[in-house]
Amino acid sequence: MPRSWTTRVETSADHRTVRDINLAAFGRGQEADLVQSLRGDGAWIDGLSLLVLEGGGTPVGHALLTRCHIGSVPALCLGPCAVLPSHQGTGAGSALIRALLEQARGRGERYVTVLGHAGYYPRFGFTRALGHGIGVGIEVPDEALMAMSLDGSVLPTGTISYAPPFGL
Ligand SMILES: CC(C)(COP(=O)(O)OP(=O)(O)OC[C@H]1O[C@@H](n2cnc3c(N)ncnc32)[C@H](O)[C@@H]1OP(=O)(O)O)[C@@H](O)C(=O)NCCC(=O)NCCS
Repeated sequence: MPRSWTTRVETSADHRTVRDINLAAFGRGQEADLVQSLRGDGAWIDGLSLLVLEGGGTPVGHALLTRCHIGSVPALCLGPCAVLPSHQGTGAGSALIRALLEQARGRGERYVTVLGHAGYYPRFGFTRALGHGIGVGIEVPDEALMAMSLDGSVLPTGTISYAPPFGL
C-alpha cells in the first residue's frame, strides 16, 4: 500500500530532530552542521525548511531552500535533502521536495538550483544548469548542477553565489 506523507514547516523544537535525520541520512556531521549554520545566516528563509512525516506522525525527512543568486538575480538553493535510511526509497523525499517547491512557488519565488544526484532531481523539473548558461565557481560534474524555473519564465544566466555557510 502506498505510504501517506504530510509535510510541515520546522519549528525551533525540531532542531534536534533535523540534526538527527541529517546525521543518519549522510552518515556524517557536515550536512547537519550546515543546516545549523544556515539558520543563523541571512540566506535563511522562514517557512522554507520542511519536515516530512509518515502519516502525519513521525518526522522521517528534512529539506530546505535558502537564498542564492544566479548572477545578480535572486534564486533558491535546494538542500541538503535528507531522509532516514529506514525510509529511503519509499517516496518521502519526493513528497518533501514537491511540497517545498510548491511553498516557494506560492511565495512568488521564481528559480531554484540544486547540486546533487543527476538521477534524482530531474523528476521534479530540474534540468542541467550548464544548458541554461548557469555555472558555479568550483569544479563539479556538469550533470550535478541543475536548475528549474517555478513560473515558466526563462532562467537567468550567470554564476551561482551561495550563502557563506556552503563554503562554495
Ligand atoms: C536522496 C534522498 C533525499 C531521496 O529521498 P527518498 O525518500 O529516498 O527518495 P524517494 O523515495 O522519493 O525517491 C526514490 C527514488 O530516488 C532515487 N534515489 C535515491 N537516492 C538516490 C541517489 N543517491 N542517487 C540517485 N537516485 C537516488 C531512487 O533510486 C528512487 O528512484 P526511482 O523512483 O526511479 O526508483 C534520500 O535517499 C537520502 O536522504 N539520501 C541520503 C542523503 C543524500 O544523498 N541526500 C541528497 C544529497 S544531493
